[in-house]
Amino acid sequence: MPFLADRLARVKPSPTMAITALATELAAAGRDVIALSQGEPDFDTPPNVREAGIAAIDRGDTRYTVFDGRIELKRAICGKFKRENGLDYEPSQISVSSGGKQVLYNALVATINPGDEVVIPAPFWVSYPDMVLLCDGTPVPVSCPQNNGFKMRPEDLEAAITPKTKWLILNSPSNPSGAAYTEADLRAVADVLLRHPHVWVMTDDMYEHLVYDDFTFKTIAQVEPRLYERTLTVNGCSKAYCMTGWRIGYAGGPKALIKAMGAIQSQSTANPCSISQAAAIEALNGPQDFIPRNNAVFKERRDLVVDMLNRVPGLHCPTPEGAFYVYPSCAGVIGAKTPSGATIANDEDFVRYLLEAEGVAVVHGEAFGLAPHFRVSYATSTEALREACRRIDRACRALS
Ligand SMILES: Cc1ncc(COP(=O)(O)O)c(C=O)c1O
Repeated sequence: MPFLADRLARVKPSPTMAITALATELAAAGRDVIALSQGEPDFDTPPNVREAGIAAIDRGDTRYTVFDGRIELKRAICGKFKRENGLDYEPSQISVSSGGKQVLYNALVATINPGDEVVIPAPFWVSYPDMVLLCDGTPVPVSCPQNNGFKMRPEDLEAAITPKTKWLILNSPSNPSGAAYTEADLRAVADVLLRHPHVWVMTDDMYEHLVYDDFTFKTIAQVEPRLYERTLTVNGCSKAYCMTGWRIGYAGGPKALIKAMGAIQSQSTANPCSISQAAAIEALNGPQDFIPRNNAVFKERRDLVVDMLNRVPGLHCPTPEGAFYVYPSCAGVIGAKTPSGATIANDEDFVRYLLEAEGVAVVHGEAFGLAPHFRVSYATSTEALREACRRIDRACRALS
């Protein structure tokens, strides 16, 4: 349509949301669908956080706030960065937005000139490349295959950097692979970045709290303080605090960048929801004991799914360190024929087959930049997961 801006031609709608929408449609039409495509915890927001939101409404905390977050929330975020990450930020180095998504988008709008490159390890969260494209930048995916634990090797990062590189986007634990960078992994990435002072790092730590088996989470500015001046540390309440609908994300970073991000927000959406800000203060300052309780459930589900999928002919499922996703390879079913005679040529055909034959909704690896894989979200009930894995098994055994 000629009326639309040229940049729209480069951007596709979120494929994860598209699969979820299709699954919802099938379910509404009476199909028995198990959706393992969603990227949010199935737990409710903790009661103390909900109550803080209700109290905010009752006391009339329902007006505009400072455009990039109330000072009380910025102080709570500084406290979190110090306590959990050993990072010193002042309130003037903090920006609060309507979800982590808006934080990342503001940062890219604030920094990307046409043709600037952004290095993105693949598999990646679907929104990174499209956000870069919306800013007229060039996403540079770096393949991080399963035999590298879905993590970026320093030599691959080195090879991807050019004079036009503006950012490296790091996401650990990762959506979609669940892979998490150890301190040694981050050290190796930092050593490359130290050799390229023009490259900044945007670290998306959204799944920080969702790690299992005694994995110790670290963030890059903590591992290499010399990168602090060119790191944007992004985090939010959505995943760990089960607050996806409240829309609170935040970042700590250099003052000039934070100010620029705030300027963009002040002229676009202005402040994140005042009620959600009050709830986020309680989330960050209040009791944290539900996090290990939720994690124990997630770990049990992860182990169940990994075990069941590894028994399915044609699939191979590594055990991830964190988040609530597994990212099995379906290389063993590519080329196979479905009972109706169709050939499974790629991972997209495979996930469509799973949805049509067995009503299981998962997302194909191509959408995340690394095929042939598919992403399973295990943020759903144990019974649903067990049934979904049974159905995937049946579907794969029906292939020839
Ligand atoms: C890696 C990653 N970063 C950021 C986000 C966005 O989080 P929010 O819901 O706070 O915008 C998500 C949500 O799925 C995510 O998976």
